[in-house]
Amino acid sequence: MTKNTFTKISDLKNHVQKQVTLAGWLYNSRSSGKIQFIIIRDGSGLCQCIVEKNNVPENLFDKIKHLGQESSLTVTGTVRQDERSIGGYELDLTNAKIISETTDYPITPKSHGIDFLLKNRHLHLRSQRQWCIGKIRHTIINAIRNFFNQNDFTLIDTPIFTTAAGEEADSLFEVDYFGTPIHLTQTGQLHLESAAMSFGKVYCFGPTFRAEKSKTRRHLTEFWMVEPEIAFIDLDGLLELAENFTAYIVEQVLNKNKEQLNTLNVNTKSLEKITPPFDRLTYTDTVDILKGEKAKKFLSNQLENLKEQKQNLLSRIEELENELKQPLKKWKKEKFDAELIELNSTLSELDTKIENNPKHAKLAEQFQWGKDLGGSDETIISQMHEKPVFVTHYPKHAKAFYMKEDSENKNVVQNFDMLAPAGFGEIIGGSMREDHYQTLLKRIKEQKLDPANYDWYLDLRKYGSVPHGGFGLGIERTIAWLTQQKHIRQCIPFPRLMDKIYI
Ligand code: 4AD
Repeated sequence: MTKNTFTKISDLKNHVQKQVTLAGWLYNSRSSGKIQFIIIRDGSGLCQCIVEKNNVPENLFDKIKHLGQESSLTVTGTVRQDERSIGGYELDLTNAKIISETTDYPITPKSHGIDFLLKNRHLHLRSQRQWCIGKIRHTIINAIRNFFNQNDFTLIDTPIFTTAAGEEADSLFEVDYFGTPIHLTQTGQLHLESAAMSFGKVYCFGPTFRAEKSKTRRHLTEFWMVEPEIAFIDLDGLLELAENFTAYIVEQVLNKNKEQLNTLNVNTKSLEKITPPFDRLTYTDTVDILKGEKAKKFLSNQLENLKEQKQNLLSRIEELENELKQPLKKWKKEKFDAELIELNSTLSELDTKIENNPKHAKLAEQFQWGKDLGGSDETIISQMHEKPVFVTHYPKHAKAFYMKEDSENKNVVQNFDMLAPAGFGEIIGGSMREDHYQTLLKRIKEQKLDPANYDWYLDLRKYGSVPHGGFGLGIERTIAWLTQQKHIRQCIPFPRLMDKIYI
């Protein structure tokens, strides 16, 4: 096999009416007498090939007919444009070479349980859903690098082995470093602050580790975070940077991944609305909303809506169950079975939402100023918005030691979370940093941290301290929002979850 011998499916538009050879894997096949329809995937897309008995060498027709899903092969044929076909082009196949034959590929086009798919992640990465998410992840990471590089930020690689905690001490992963206990990084921020005093505008981008005992759909123990840090900025400047940055990522995904967004059934209209400015609420405004009539009314409308969705779902399930009692062709039965599995899983999610709605309403109503916002509180606020929303100025004692006190109200800090809309919740956390030596030392002690571990960090406040701040955006949460995935485990190739590492 030499370089550039094979045409990529994504490039078929440039080869209409010409003969090409594709190299890939058998994604799916069906046959109807003297004609077979096989779908090839090659990493760049899917292409349906038409195999007619009279057009291919003897024996090949039968060989293809019995070829197992995910067998690897090359196919040669003439490209034809066909709007109705997957990807818009088809191949009239004239020849094929089987490279490696597969039998009993464990993941079939029918639905499988999530546990099975995670155990088989090494194979499931080939599925359309994981492929689309992987492509979008790639665009997002590229967009992030472009945005910061084009805006004069310098990339700084912060360490993974660290000695000082940046976030909650109970989420540290301890490592035995030649006899000394240290930890895996929870954030590059502290080191990045020192780099900001050298370069002015910096960012780090890497894996981040949190031993959070959280099994929610928003938590991984290993995730990727990008963190910019800027010297001489204020909170308004940070919010402006965060909204322009987020809007740029969304724009890039809309430009580059239309096809993948469609395959994933993402409502792109809702993404087109993500343009600056985003709403800004203070934490205190947010508490008032949660406890007030607006949230109450919103949640009760939502409950009605959920109940209506459940009724519609139950009627469709009944319809399908009746269909399945009739004699059906194999492919139709499989299709209905798959839809039924999908609908039942949606039904169980709806039931959970219906059950949780009054609990969340009660939690919101009873929310006390001073507590950190819980997952359900964030969800309510984020469901009430069509664009991301900033929540700023949280109570000081609920937040990390490094956040700068507000000059007008010492009970709150100059920080913000950015909540993605439609219930996706927090994707960015950031703040101005405490730049006053004595105040920072006091905060370190108040939070029962050992000042000796923060000697070097305190130095930054001794030698030319300046107002500075930054934020961190979680990559997987951003992907989950933009691809409308319910769980962030789908948004990283090999997820690490609190209760399980599969492969
Ligand atoms: O709000 P966090 O904890 O902020 C920091 O780590 C700051 N030091 C960042 C900074 O100011 N430089 O985390 C930032 C983001 C969250 O908004 C979320 O998107 C993501 O990181 N994140 C997680 N993503 C997946 N799994 C987890 N366990 C996460 N914890 C945080």
